[in-house]
Amino acid sequence: MAVELNHTIVLARDKEQTARHLTRLLDLPPHTTFGPFAVVQLANGVSLDIADDHGRPHPQHYAFLVTEDEFDAIHARIVAAGLTYWADPFHRRAGVVNHADGGRGLYWLAPDDHSLEILTVPYGGWPG
Ligand SMILES: [Fe+2]
Repeated sequence: MAVELNHTIVLARDKEQTARHLTRLLDLPPHTTFGPFAVVQLANGVSLDIADDHGRPHPQHYAFLVTEDEFDAIHARIVAAGLTYWADPFHRRAGVVNHADGGRGLYWLAPDDHSLEILTVPYGGWPG
């Protein structure tokens, strides 16, 4: 099977703000511009193409697989930014990192209440 996700569109009230949130916290290269999109490029070739919506977009969920070292760095940036994070997608365990599938994970909110997640092991464990 050779089908890969290449890009998806993320709706935002302010695409620049959302792009900066992602690139700053995840330590990604600065976003680029393509047509109406602020493009955030991820390591596996997938891009998040952020577009301004008219009105408040419906919050979505985006999960990022990171290394243990990246997790530590992202976690530290979330804390330094004063953002709340949770161990669970229902936001019941604030300030807690989960250890699902033998790895680590946490959730936080991006602008427009998009739910972001970092995890070091895919759901169900390797190979994912
Ligand atoms: Fe998730």
